[in-house]
Amino acid sequence: MADATEIADRSAVPAGGSYRFTAEDAFGNETEVILVLCEESPGVRAWVNNCTHEDQRFDAGRGAAIRDGEIICPRHGSMFDACSGECDNGEASGTALPGVDIEIEDDTVLLTDDRYDYLHDGGVNDGDDGPGSTSHLSF
Ligand code: FES
Repeated sequence: MADATEIADRSAVPAGGSYRFTAEDAFGNETEVILVLCEESPGVRAWVNNCTHEDQRFDAGRGAAIRDGEIICPRHGSMFDACSGECDNGEASGTALPGVDIEIEDDTVLLTDDRYDYLHDGGVNDGDDGPGSTSHLSF
């Protein structure tokens, strides 16, 4: 489906937070995805914006909570490795986040995952009138 669609500048992915965008799967379902920084190459990872334990988004519009390279679930506090997506603690222990394939080219993050088409930045409901991803801002 996707053919290396531009998502964002790599610099748009904040340290200690996330950049959120919305993609569409083969069945027309809109899926929120977060970009987070990772110390391993190429420096950014993309994960489906939902905890594996319950229906809980990591980034609800103000950025996911990231500490020491781990994404923290706001509901029960399980922490997921930002690079591997794996969780070894709390309610979500033994699970891993579904990843989304990306590449970085000239400091631009590209969606290269055949399962998804890029729709827009921000969350599912931000497509029509939202100002775009505000995941790195605080209100
Ligand atoms: S919903 Fe994330 S740990 Fe329970």
